[in-house]
Amino acid sequence: MSFQSLPKVELHLHLEGAAPPAFIRGLAQEKSVDLSGVFNEDGTYAFRDFVHFLSVYEAATQVLTGPEAFARLTHAVLEESAAQGVIYTEAFLSPDFCGGGDVAAWREYLHAIQEAAEATERDSGIVMRGIVTCIRHFGPDQAKRVALCAAETAGDWVTGFGIAGDEMKGKPGDFAYSFDMAREAGLRLTAHAGEWGGPASVRDAIRDLRVERIGHGVRAIEDPVLVEDLAERGIVLEVCPGSNVALGVYPRFDKHPIARLRDAGVKVTVSTDDPPFFHTTMTREYEELARAFGWEDEDFRALNLTALDAAFCDADTRDRLKPKLEPT
Ligand code: ADE
Ligand code: ZN
Repeated sequence: MSFQSLPKVELHLHLEGAAPPAFIRGLAQEKSVDLSGVFNEDGTYAFRDFVHFLSVYEAATQVLTGPEAFARLTHAVLEESAAQGVIYTEAFLSPDFCGGGDVAAWREYLHAIQEAAEATERDSGIVMRGIVTCIRHFGPDQAKRVALCAAETAGDWVTGFGIAGDEMKGKPGDFAYSFDMAREAGLRLTAHAGEWGGPASVRDAIRDLRVERIGHGVRAIEDPVLVEDLAERGIVLEVCPGSNVALGVYPRFDKHPIARLRDAGVKVTVSTDDPPFFHTTMTREYEELARAFGWEDEDFRALNLTALDAAFCDADTRDRLKPKLEPT
C-alpha cells in the first residue's frame, strides 16, 4: 500500500540537505559555480561515505548564496514534503551557510526563509518551524556565533537549537556554552548523537547538553541500560532509517533497531534527514518500515502523535494540527 496520503509529522530535516539535485544544478548554472565532483553521471549526489557526504553537502551549499536562494529552496523543499503528506516539519537551519554566523546577515536569510514558509503554508497547508543548528566539525567557537544567531532570533518560529556535523569530532561538552545560551533564550534542544558514536555519545549529549531529543540516537540499542533510561526519561529519538541504511550504519531496513527501540518503550519518530541524498521520501520510509516490520497505519499514527507531542512548536500550533492525525 502507499502511505503517501497518510498525514505525517517530520522532526529531522536539514534544509540544505533536502535540496533536490536539479535545484542545485540550476542555481550553479545561474551563478556560474563549478560543482564538479558533486553529482554522479545520473544526476544524483555523489558520495562514498559519511565524511565524504558532509563535504559534498558543503560543496552543494556554495550555490545557496543570498536570502533569495534560501527562499526558493524553502519553497521547493516544503512543496515536496507536502506532496509526501507531511503536515508539519521542523527543519534544521544553519547560519554557517546563511551569512557565516553574522547575526545581521542571518536575520536577512531567516526573514526570507520564514516568508517563503508562510507563503507555502498558505498554498499547501504545511507548517514549518526552524531549529538553528551549529556544525560540530566547525568547532566550539563558531558554534557560539551560531548560538548567538539562534538566541537573537528565538521566538514562535525559531523554536529550537541543535548540533549536526561530524559526530566523531570533539565532544558534546565542548558545545555546552552554546547550548546553555540557547536554553537561556528559551529554545528547546536536540543534538545529533548515536549515529556514528556509540551509546556513550548519547549519554554525553544528554548529560552535557541537557537535550530533550536526540537526532538519530539509534546506537543506544547497544546498551540495554541506556535504552531503559531513554524510555524512563521520555527522551525522543529523531530516527532516520533510510539515512542510516544509505550511509551504512545498518545494512538493511530489517536490521535497523527502530522496532526494537520502540518495543522497549523508547519514544521513536521517523524522518528523512537529507532525502535526495539518501534517495528517500517520508512515503518511502513508511513503505520500507511496513515491509521490514509489518507496521500499519495505526503504528504510523502513533509515531506521528509522538512526533507532534515532541515538536518544538507552541500549544496552539499543536492543537491545530492534532485533529489532522485522526483516522479518517
Ligand atoms: N548533516 C546533514 N545530515 C547529517 C547527518 N546525517 N549527520 C550529521 N550531520 C548531518
Ligand atoms: Zn541529521
